[in-house]
Parts: sequence; structure tokens; C-alpha cells
Amino acid sequence: MAIERVGVAGFGAMGSGIAQVCAQAGFQVTVREIDQAAIDRGWKGVDTSLARVVKAGRMSEDDAKAARGRMRASTALADLKDSDLVIEAVLEIADVKRQVFEELDRICPPPTIFASNTSSLPIIDMAIRTKRPDRFAGLHFFNPAPVMQLVEVVRALTTSDETIETLRAFVQKLGKTPVVSKDVAGFIVNRLLVPYMLDAIRVLEQGIATADDIDTAVKLGLRHPMGPFELLDYTGLDISLHVGDVFFEEFKEPRMAPPALLRRMVAAGHLGRKTGKGFYEYDEKGNRR
Ligand code: CAA
Repeated sequence: MAIERVGVAGFGAMGSGIAQVCAQAGFQVTVREIDQAAIDRGWKGVDTSLARVVKAGRMSEDDAKAARGRMRASTALADLKDSDLVIEAVLEIADVKRQVFEELDRICPPPTIFASNTSSLPIIDMAIRTKRPDRFAGLHFFNPAPVMQLVEVVRALTTSDETIETLRAFVQKLGKTPVVSKDVAGFIVNRLLVPYMLDAIRVLEQGIATADDIDTAVKLGLRHPMGPFELLDYTGLDISLHVGDVFFEEFKEPRMAPPALLRRMVAAGHLGRKTGKGFYEYDEKGNRR
């Protein structure tokens, strides 16, 4: 099946990046958010990101304008009804996601493929809430979506081969590289990344080294673009805590359990860049102080 129109549920950090990537690749995109304030924040994210792409010389100003012109935003989920593919990127809360898919299932015609951008929740739990569990999969993008080259295509127990192949081709049309994973918590990347990030916090808790030295060690010793604490602050400590809790629930392994420091920092509102303080401190522009 050929995908031409894409619906994106959620215009937050991931939803706006995903919508932008789809529009840049020539797809018509409709995004849905719950209110105008959230839509305005989404557009701000898209405009800032497109400006960076243009400034970096990776796209002309005209092409960026054309990409933006292929996107429209709405507060009505019903406006996603003409989509060939709907990608869900709403809050990482199981009940919220299930509710969105139940509503989408009533709105969209049977051929529409549904995909969730969840990073940790079981795809099957969402798929069975719809009448199209065979046309349902995970499509997991990485932050920042306009930059990161990988997309995980996640096969639930009910996902058809045709759906996997359609999504694989779709990811390639986005100019990104697909990998296929089974439906287990964390898929491929987060299955490896989360225990590593949680371990970095334990290394800090144990006083083995400072956050700065651990980050420097990983960047220079492993050539990662960011150290674990920079990445924790970048993605948001609340996200990592939530993912750690989901992982521990699924695997029951101590190394998957969020360390006390992470829980306390989230309780204190030290969520990373978005609140100006996490393992490091940031100014209003998100630069480290
Ligand atoms: N939109 C568009 N372009 C962007 C951008 C954005 N939001 N953010 C960065 N860029 C571009 C910049 O314009 C720049 O382009 P050029 O090289 O062409 O000039 C390039 O990306 C590099 O950016 P910077 O020079 O500003 O900064 P940097 O070199 O430090 O790179 C980074 C920033 C791309 C974020 C890099 O640090 C990086 O790759 N970090 C690791 C990110 C990562 O691991 N993400 C995965 C998170 S885990 C996840 O997402 C899974 C989950 O489920 C939670």
C-alpha cells in the first residue's frame, strides 16, 4: 500500500519532529494536538528546527517553506480521517494512548495503518484495542527526529508482513534507516541504552566520578556525541524515570530499576534542559551555564 497522507497525533517534541520529517519528505501531514497553546508550541519547534536545517545548508529556504506548507494542525482528531498512516506521539501514558487509538479506530477507514512512537509500552496492548491489529505496529523515532537517522519498526504478535514492509518502505522514503524489532520493552536501542543510563547514575551515586568526568569519558572514550548525563538532561529525566519503571515492571531485573537519585531529582522538578536544571544547569536558550 502506498502512503501519501500522514496523520500525527501529538505536536510535542517527538510529534513535531516526526511531522516535520514527513513533510520534508513530501508527504501531506495533519497534526493533532489538544489545544491551540500546544499547537503554537509545536509550530515553534518546527520553525526553529527548519531554520537550523536551512542555516546548516541542508535545505533551501524555498524547500523549507514548501515543507511547512504541507503541514496543517488541528485540535480535532477527526481531521486525521483521510490519513493513510497515523503515527501516534502523545503522552507516554498507556491509558491515554489506548484512548487515542480507540477513537482513531472509529474515525479512520479500515486500510489506514496505525503506528505508535512509544519508546517503552507494549504495542500489542494498543493494537488489540482496535479492529486492525494486523495493520498496527510501532514506529519509534529518536530525538531529535529531524537529525537522527534510525527508526525502529516494531512488529507486534498481530502485525502483518505487509504492514512491516509498507512501514519499512515509508521510513526509507523519509531518508532514514529502518530496523525491525520484536515487541519487547525498549525494542533494540532503549533495551541497551536504558540500563547504561541508569548505571551511569549509579556510578555518580557511588561517588566514582563527577557527572562531567563521566560524560567526558564516554564522549572521548567511546566517541558518543553526548555523555549519559547530557543525554539524560536532553531527553528529560521524567522520561527516563518512566521508562525505567516500565522496564523494571517487565524484566524484574535490579539493573532496570531507576536509582533513588533519579526519582528524587524528578520529584524536585529537576527534569533537565526543559526546566533549566537537571544534572547540569541551562539558560533560557537551553545552553549550559
Ligand atoms: N532540528 C534540526 N537540526 C538539528 C536539530 C533539530 N532539532 N538539532 C541539531 N540539529 C542539527 C544542527 O543544525 C547541526 O547541523 P549541521 O551539522 O549540518 O550543521 C547538527 O544537527 C549538529 O547540531 P549542533 O552542532 O547544534 O550540536 P551537536 O553537534 O552537539 O549535535 C545532537 C546535537 C544532534 C543532538 C547530538 O548531540 C546527538 O546526536 N546527540 C545524541 C542524541 C541521541 O542519542 N538521541 C537519542 C536519544 S534516545 C531516544 O530518543 C529514544 C527514546 O525513546 C527516549
